[in-house]
Amino acid sequence: MAVFQKVVVVGAGTMGSQIALQTAYSGRYEVALVDSSRQQLERSRGQIAALVQRSVVKGRLSADEAPRVLGRLSFGEDLSAALPGAGLVIEAVFEDLETKLEVWRRLGRDAPADAVLASNSSTIAISRLAEETPRPAMCCNMHFFHPVTVMELCEIVRGPGTADETVGRAVEFVRSIGRVPVVIQKEIHGFVVNRILFAAAEEAMRLLEGGYASAEAIDTAVKKGLNWPMGPFELLDFSGLDIFYGALEDRSKMEGGVGAPAVLKERIERGELGRKTGRGFYDYGKQGGTRGDGKSRS
Ligand SMILES: NC(=O)c1ccc[n+]([C@@H]2O[C@H](COP(=O)([O-])OP(=O)(O)OC[C@H]3O[C@@H](n4cnc5c(N)ncnc54)[C@H](O)[C@@H]3O)[C@@H](O)[C@H]2O)c1
Repeated sequence: MAVFQKVVVVGAGTMGSQIALQTAYSGRYEVALVDSSRQQLERSRGQIAALVQRSVVKGRLSADEAPRVLGRLSFGEDLSAALPGAGLVIEAVFEDLETKLEVWRRLGRDAPADAVLASNSSTIAISRLAEETPRPAMCCNMHFFHPVTVMELCEIVRGPGTADETVGRAVEFVRSIGRVPVVIQKEIHGFVVNRILFAAAEEAMRLLEGGYASAEAIDTAVKKGLNWPMGPFELLDFSGLDIFYGALEDRSKMEGGVGAPAVLKERIERGELGRKTGRGFYDYGKQGGTRGDGKSRS
């Protein structure tokens, strides 16, 4: 059983909105969703209402329960006003260090003394954020995956100062909202999932670059041989080539290495970022941004 009733989620964008909704679905917590942009809060409110409605239509949620889920959520611009009573704060603002540091300074000052403070950051280690607070022992990364209401995993990453009790509370919370926690005992760039994903994607690009096989052949090999639902090039196009490029460059700065492969760099330079621009390793024609069937080789 949860020992606290209130969760604050900071940042009502793609991830924050979904983390808040998944938490509200559990029926165990009230959730305050905070964003500095009023417009974004309204967008988030609309998206959450639409997702709840879709769950009812698909029979995953009863019509009676839908208003109760929505009733557990509140939306506001004032972080300090939302924090009293919170047992857990999950920060999901822009992936920008300065923006995050400012939020974490405020959390260190204004969050209840017994609240666990977590960041959903994909790349910023908790030690960098926790040092802005007077209680690094109560801080950890809580890395959910998009879309949170579908993807079950949450990587819980402990920093050098994170207490066992904090990890335990994070694990218990993730389980209580129906997600699967995995604890990563030491900080490392990309945590576990993205490191394995980037290693596979990088190898796939080197094979393409070396002329060993086409993107389509490599995707088919991985899907049929490893049972992955998507091949590495499909996944690169789906997530956005710019995201992978940034992460690979980042990693080689931190750990050494040769940086992103040329087949990725040249597409970035041409503005071919995957589905969102209609072209990446595949050509989506007018169906860019959707998962339509109109894929052809690029
Ligand atoms: N998008 C993904 O697939 C994904 C997956 C896992 C983790 N993440 C991580 O989650 C975090 C959020 O990513 P996202 O994709 O949801 O970003 P997003 O751009 O969709 O949303 C970020 C939100 O933060 C708000 N914000 C910015 N500064 C703020 C402040 N000072 N106070 C309150 N709100 C503020 C913005 O208005 C925006 O609504 C990032 O750290 C990212 O690395 C993203």
